[in-house]
Amino acid sequence: MLDTLQHAPRVAHGAPPSTLQWRDACQELRWGLLATPPSIAPKFLYDAHGCALYEAITTLPEYHLPRVERAILDRHQGAMLQLLPRGAELIDIGSGDGAKARRWLDAGIVRRYIGLDIAEDWLREVLRRGRQRYPGVQFDGVVTDLTWGLQLPLPREAERPRIFWYPGSSIGNFEPAAATALLAQMRAHMRPGDALVLAVDGPVEHARMVHAYDDAAGVTAAFNLNVLNVVNRTLGASFDATAFRHRAVFNAEASRIEMHLVSQHAQAIALGTGQVLRLQASEHIVTEHSYKHAPARAEQLLRGAGFDQLQRFGIDGEAYGVYLARIGHAESER
Ligand SMILES: C[S@@+](CC[C@H](N)C(=O)[O-])C[C@H]1O[C@@H](n2cnc3c(N)ncnc32)[C@H](O)[C@@H]1O
Repeated sequence: MLDTLQHAPRVAHGAPPSTLQWRDACQELRWGLLATPPSIAPKFLYDAHGCALYEAITTLPEYHLPRVERAILDRHQGAMLQLLPRGAELIDIGSGDGAKARRWLDAGIVRRYIGLDIAEDWLREVLRRGRQRYPGVQFDGVVTDLTWGLQLPLPREAERPRIFWYPGSSIGNFEPAAATALLAQMRAHMRPGDALVLAVDGPVEHARMVHAYDDAAGVTAAFNLNVLNVVNRTLGASFDATAFRHRAVFNAEASRIEMHLVSQHAQAIALGTGQVLRLQASEHIVTEHSYKHAPARAEQLLRGAGFDQLQRFGIDGEAYGVYLARIGHAESER
């Protein structure tokens, strides 16, 4: 469905690729909650309140990721601009508040911006503001769920060169095989000369990683607990957020931070349609995995997705990397 609004950017709704892959939100939530261990997919964290809390998280002293990413991009922007195409279509994956794309818009290399996000209201606001600020740039958006795969209602052969922009290390929220599959879908929409700019967080000191997801002011806790309100609204479920505690742990074997909601006492939660989730005290629900990919693993993901020209930009002492990934001529002809 393409919803063309007069005087407004075009917003398309990404359709699931086939009925077999269709995931109904209610069904997906119930499946997750009745699995072992119970889980809620991280995409449900981003209702309007969750989006506002995420913006607050990005300013927390403990959440070092955006600051490190900004430092890398500030240091290397000139070198990256040498490699990026001009007059490009910038596809902002998981666009959020869209603020990070301004770097490329201000550099004057973008003719069309396409935001992709599950949070429709946030996306519409990004497009409205972008259009005011950059009258020479076309602003469009796609409301989509990336866990269905990349739903990009664009021709594979673009009129303009393409830049896929995937900041924030959000790729870490995908299991590694799914991350490679998503990157491969981006690659399929690229030609030689196009680029993917991908931020990937890596493992650092244990306490630093855990505090980044469990801050002293409790903002990340509020963000995590808010997902129970989303589930209550979506399913008509009976979660009491005060009966849970936020927890962030580093799973060293998998190299990922896990966010949990830990049950504070034995409880039975109605999930609607007669189903009940029973939790003992200290049992938990998994709400997010954030993989911390060391450079060798990040490169493996990108090469596995078919990118054969990789450049990593970083700063001393940090495991965070920003990759500029492209394809050579032979690759594009596969
Ligand atoms: C961690 S935020 C990053 C926002 C922004 N790119 C940044 O780096 O600050 C993740 C963004 O991805 C969106 N998102 C999360 N899960 C998604 C999904 N399954 N499909 C599409 N967007 C999703 C959220 O709404 C949010 O805007």
